[in-house]
Amino acid sequence: MASARLYTVFTMLTAAVVILTTWMFPYERFMIWDQYSSDHQDILNPMVSKLRLIQPPVERCLLNQSLLFDQTTYPTYTEVVVLNRDRLYRQGDVLTVKVVARDKKRRLKTYGGDFFRARLVSSDRSLQASGAGHVTDHCNGNYTVQFQLYWVGNVSIKIQLVHPSEAVKILQSVGHVPNKRGFQCIFGNLETKDHYTQQCFSSNNPSLPPHRKCDFSKPEANGTWICEKPEKLPCSAITKCRWNPDISRVRALVSQEEMKLFQKPYLETELEVNPKQPIRVLETDLPTPEHLPACTGNTRESGASLGHWSGKVWKSAVCNVRVFNKEEIQRCLANKTVYLQGDSTIRQWSEHLQNVVPLYSDNRTTNSPVFRVGNNNQWNTSVRYRFHNVPVQVKAWFNFQDFRYIVDEIDATHGGPNTVIVLSLWAHFTAEPLDVLRSRLYAIRGAIHRLLPRSPGTRVFVRTGTTR
Ligand SMILES: *[C@@H]1O[C@H](CO)[C@@H](O)[C@H](O)[C@H]1NC(C)=O
Ligand SMILES: *[C@@H]1O[C@H](CO)[C@@H](O)[C@H](O)[C@H]1NC(C)=O
Ligand SMILES: *[C@@H]1O[C@H](CO)[C@@H](O)[C@H](O)[C@H]1NC(C)=O
Ligand SMILES: *[C@@H]1O[C@H](CO)[C@@H](O)[C@H](O)[C@H]1NC(C)=O
Ligand SMILES: *[C@@H]1O[C@H](CO)[C@@H](O)[C@H](O)[C@H]1NC(C)=O
Ligand SMILES: *[C@@H]1O[C@H](CO)[C@@H](O)[C@H](O)[C@H]1NC(C)=O
Ligand SMILES: *[C@@H]1O[C@H](CO)[C@@H](O)[C@H](O)[C@H]1NC(C)=O
Repeated sequence: MASARLYTVFTMLTAAVVILTTWMFPYERFMIWDQYSSDHQDILNPMVSKLRLIQPPVERCLLNQSLLFDQTTYPTYTEVVVLNRDRLYRQGDVLTVKVVARDKKRRLKTYGGDFFRARLVSSDRSLQASGAGHVTDHCNGNYTVQFQLYWVGNVSIKIQLVHPSEAVKILQSVGHVPNKRGFQCIFGNLETKDHYTQQCFSSNNPSLPPHRKCDFSKPEANGTWICEKPEKLPCSAITKCRWNPDISRVRALVSQEEMKLFQKPYLETELEVNPKQPIRVLETDLPTPEHLPACTGNTRESGASLGHWSGKVWKSAVCNVRVFNKEEIQRCLANKTVYLQGDSTIRQWSEHLQNVVPLYSDNRTTNSPVFRVGNNNQWNTSVRYRFHNVPVQVKAWFNFQDFRYIVDEIDATHGGPNTVIVLSLWAHFTAEPLDVLRSRLYAIRGAIHRLLPRSPGTRVFVRTGTTR
């Protein structure tokens, strides 16, 4: 039982990395990767089966030769044509759009790899509904975008050329380069004259001879942190670190000409849709399931792309997402210790809970960007936020010693049915080679492996991925 569950956790961890890197998501979303429940609900729901046919974009469509700058996809001449414009559309139908990519000389593109962001939005602003489209790359310069029509009313199509395939290719090759970002750490005391600012690296740096480096890496966590050793101070004199974009190596990796592909109009330009009038979506004739089963919090689908946003609420097409009010949140978290670990996107959850439950922090942790403990004695709730360790893309100096690896934190956790662990690692890894994130997750998976048999009933949720 436990091992089956562990396996699914691991599968989801690896799957998340693989899926999220090959499938460029239209926008940031969060996913709950815990147990994977089977697709048994599909047969109940006429809306879902149709979407199974839709393929995610593919990287193999990128041209396998040096860049052809004069053939770069040009948004102004790239056409978006709504197919079957005149047919009657009903909720649950699929609306299909063809995208024909062209270059600046209006020539048809002959290869794919363009990164489009496709959305359907309600024309009625008060509805505030939106959903993602699924892009199929035919690898010949033509693309098919399919939108599931989840709600009734008039809808508008919005397709953005996020990056032309030529830029995607540059991102892909630059993505594999380690140590692109500039990091610095201070050795010694910042307040005295006796301190040195040294360059640091999130991957091994072979050009640094052993006697010139301070290696703070932790193999058990698959975490790497290496600094140039100051000549007059020991490695243990490290105090603060930061990200310094001024010493980034990215400029050296990308030529002037290539840089232009990351500016307008080649960056995030809305395409003109033909015809641009909204499309009317009528109520369906088909019986829709009266009541979807409640989302368990474990279904992959409830967080994934089958559904749409209605204001700030995610309406899954597969299950009924429960929206908790204040009292329900308080009751749900009563007698619980919640560990939120990762980047600032999970700190925002902690800040939200801070206000809702509400939680009270002692002064020591209130202003730390690295950790924060909030308690509510009435509800016997404790929420503990902690930043994952370096690499951290923050310009302000932070105390290096304040950081802990998630692996070490999980190993130190008692766990049990009253413990919830939510992990989020992505934002500070997007500039790293994929292996850096993948290895980190391997080690975390190991820690979850140790935790669950030790403390059965601990709930673990992992959110990860990159947008590459
Ligand atoms: C792309 O080029 C590389 C090296 O030139 C080659 O090894 C690879 O097989 C090619 N891939 C495709 C899909 O043509
Ligand atoms: C792409 O679509 C356009 C317009 O429908 C068509 O003229 C062109 O032949 C298509 N390209 C390929 C390679 O099928
Ligand atoms: C949708 O648009 C049509 C015109 O295209 C209009 O007649 C109709 O009232 C609109 N419906 C809604 C719900 O706004
Ligand atoms: C608070 O919750 C813990 C479990 O997290 C439980 O062991 C403890 O008895 C609770 N304390 C009170 C006062 O309810
Ligand atoms: C919290 O734990 C205490 C002690 O175990 C128990 O009496 C109380 O009912 C629990 N509160 C909730 C809301 O579960
Ligand atoms: C904590 O902060 C509050 C408000 O800033 C202040 O009134 C209080 O004295 C502080 N307590 C301690 C122990 O520093
Ligand atoms: C570190 O990551 C590698 C894969 O990149 C994996 O094989 C290894 O087991 C990981 N180490 C730990 C301690 O998890």
